Amino acid sequence: MSTTLKIAIVGASGGIGAALLDQLVDRADVAVIHATYFKSPAGSALGNISNFGNKTSVVWRELDATDDLSVKEWLADVGSIDWVINCVGMLHTQDNKPEKTVRQLDADHFAASMNINCLPTLLLAKYAAAALKGTDNGVFATVSARVGSIEDNQLGGWYSYRASKAALNMALKCLSIEWQRTLKNVRVLALHPGTTESRLSEPFQRNVPEGSLFTAEKTARLLLVQLDAAKNLPTGRFIAYDGQEIPW
Ligand SMILES: NC(=O)c1ccc[n+]([C@@H]2O[C@H](COP(=O)([O-])OP(=O)(O)OC[C@H]3O[C@@H](n4cnc5c(N)ncnc54)[C@H](OP(=O)(O)O)[C@@H]3O)[C@@H](O)[C@H]2O)c1
Repeated sequence: MSTTLKIAIVGASGGIGAALLDQLVDRADVAVIHATYFKSPAGSALGNISNFGNKTSVVWRELDATDDLSVKEWLADVGSIDWVINCVGMLHTQDNKPEKTVRQLDADHFAASMNINCLPTLLLAKYAAAALKGTDNGVFATVSARVGSIEDNQLGGWYSYRASKAALNMALKCLSIEWQRTLKNVRVLALHPGTTESRLSEPFQRNVPEGSLFTAEKTARLLLVQLDAAKNLPTGRFIAYDGQEIPW
């Protein structure tokens, strides 16, 4: 395997993002990983790593992925790229848990959910398009969530999170259609990771049926199988960790 893939992981300081980074850095076919963190000190503490054993280097950057200029400047520095994996997301804050009823809706929390769960994908697409022009094995993937599926929604609730992930999914679907004309070698994917141990899922883990809570390591391993297979499959898919198609 030659070291060819240049990868950007946004939100590489989070549970799923960090696990993807850990596994990609060990791969012989990965040349460089541009990794971002936001508030977590994990990214800054790691600094820039050069793994001389397999020639993969990791270049960290602090990035607010909701800030247009910051995303623009980061991707200008990154240069050409093959894969963009967006792992940024927010479900709850100290003050706001997912809504059980619409009566609990908080306007600021709703706006923050839309901002963090949907906008970064559009900003990344806006500024990564030029960087993806030269790739012959392109992937532009965002970690979405099954609860963002409108058709799959049986339980209701979680208004802000569900609505922001549904908006994200629409953005990805639009992008996949646009890029079929302009970036034919790039597969656009919405990924459902399965319920995974992380800060985001921590308050809800006790409700997960036994055996259904994945470690971040397992989730990353399964998602990478899907990303590796993407080249030979259609663009514009919403898929789970096991490759199962989820209705939009
Ligand atoms: N865990 C699950 O069970 C599960 C299930 C379905 C879907 N998902 C989705 O999977 C994705 C990853 O979640 P996770 O479980 O790994 O959560 P996590 O551990 O809380 O990670 C969230 C990541 O988002 C970053 N982030 C937040 N706001 C940001 C901003 N404005 N700009 C840049 N980065 C920002 C965080 O950076 P800092 O830490 O540096 O602040 C962190 O890297 C999310 O989209 C989530 O909705 C997760």
